[in-house]
Amino acid sequence: MEKIVNLAKRRGFAFQSSEIYGGLASCWDYGPIGVELKRNVKEAWWRDMVTRRADIVGIDCSILMHPRVWEASGHVAGFTDPLVDCKLCKERFRADKLMDAQCPRKPSKHPGECEGELTEARQFNLMFKTFMGPVEDTASVVFLRPETAQGIFVNFLNVLHTSRQKIPFGIAQIGKSFRNEITPGNFLFRTREFEQMEMEFFVRPGEDERWYEYWREERLNWYTRYGIRRENLRLREHAPEELAHYAKACVDVEYHFPFGWSELEGIANRTDFDLRRHAEYSGKDLSYYDEETKERFYPYVIEPAAGADRATLAFLVDAYDEDVADGEPRVVLRFHPRIAPVKVAVFPLLRKEGHPERALEIVDILRQHFTVQYDQSGSIGRRYRRQDEIGTPFGVTVDHQTLQDNTVTLRDRDTMRQERISVERLVEELKRRIEI
Ligand code: GAP
Repeated sequence: MEKIVNLAKRRGFAFQSSEIYGGLASCWDYGPIGVELKRNVKEAWWRDMVTRRADIVGIDCSILMHPRVWEASGHVAGFTDPLVDCKLCKERFRADKLMDAQCPRKPSKHPGECEGELTEARQFNLMFKTFMGPVEDTASVVFLRPETAQGIFVNFLNVLHTSRQKIPFGIAQIGKSFRNEITPGNFLFRTREFEQMEMEFFVRPGEDERWYEYWREERLNWYTRYGIRRENLRLREHAPEELAHYAKACVDVEYHFPFGWSELEGIANRTDFDLRRHAEYSGKDLSYYDEETKERFYPYVIEPAAGADRATLAFLVDAYDEDVADGEPRVVLRFHPRIAPVKVAVFPLLRKEGHPERALEIVDILRQHFTVQYDQSGSIGRRYRRQDEIGTPFGVTVDHQTLQDNTVTLRDRDTMRQERISVERLVEELKRRIEI
């Protein structure tokens, strides 16, 4: 994990938020390479979950919502973690995760095992509060959303009436969520501001279990489709006592992170809990009328809820590899070409004899289609290494022959094989290799 965090910082994947002021705990900024990586993760999700499907539409809701939303959803009363304080060092810990935490004074011990006495556990609400408008009183309290899902539920009728969808259908959203986590950590894994990729799939009651099975498989396969190794993924079904108040069943897609198996995504059968609660709290009828069967009912909801930052971290961890190239050790990120932040790098073999000029012309052509980097500094071997380290799948080198016959060498990051290809065929060939 330390190697990955160092690489992430050194190569511009992610930086500590507000670093020049000493950093803000648990918040990260994506740098020029990281922002492309995360965008590719989100785009792959959106393409597969929305664009390519006739039965799912998208939405983009505001982060601030009416405070009653969070009463109806159960978050005001129950979105809590048990918290304990250490009377000696004054640190706070999650009472149910003490075995995952270290005593700040004696890191070899868990809190409570050292001299520090812990207080009784009390429930701590994870929602961030702020005030709407110029008056800071209880009437103006609003929350930063702790999940994107509720924006989808409260818009159920709006989407139904404007999209002409019929059950079964889904509404998908990608957006920021905020949780005042007691113990954030593990780099991008648990932060207080993060992005979710959630989809609520509305189905007829009685058909929920079949759809639950469908989405479990679909979501697991999504990660392997973009290169995550199957042996690093598993499904973990929640025990009844673990289930959230709204769920009839829930399964986590877990990834084998360097710090252990941890949740990447949850797929829950939320029943009709949310629509019924919002109907009750808003006084609006949120039931669904089936034109064909002439039945009215509250749909059940199957929810695949993923984290964009956790997925980005998993793609980064899974891609990380060290091997030997041309007799030298190299770090290589073996990203799937779709996920790779930079698709192609262009190098002039020499910094003279017209190589840079021709290489820059080729960059201009490629930039219309792909994220491209141009690099002319250092030996060609070093330049390949720099691109391997950020996972660029293809390298194009301009040499003497390019100026004679308009061909370049195309290098593959993983096989390190090089082949000659004409510049006219380059865009088409790269598209073919990236869009697998
Ligand atoms: N609407 C259901 C829901 O929010 P969740 O399991 O609490 O379910 C879904 O969150 C996903 O959001 C998680 O699987 C994880 O990927 C991501 N997530 C949740 N809390 C997070 C945090 N503090 N930091 C980063 N990602 C988080």
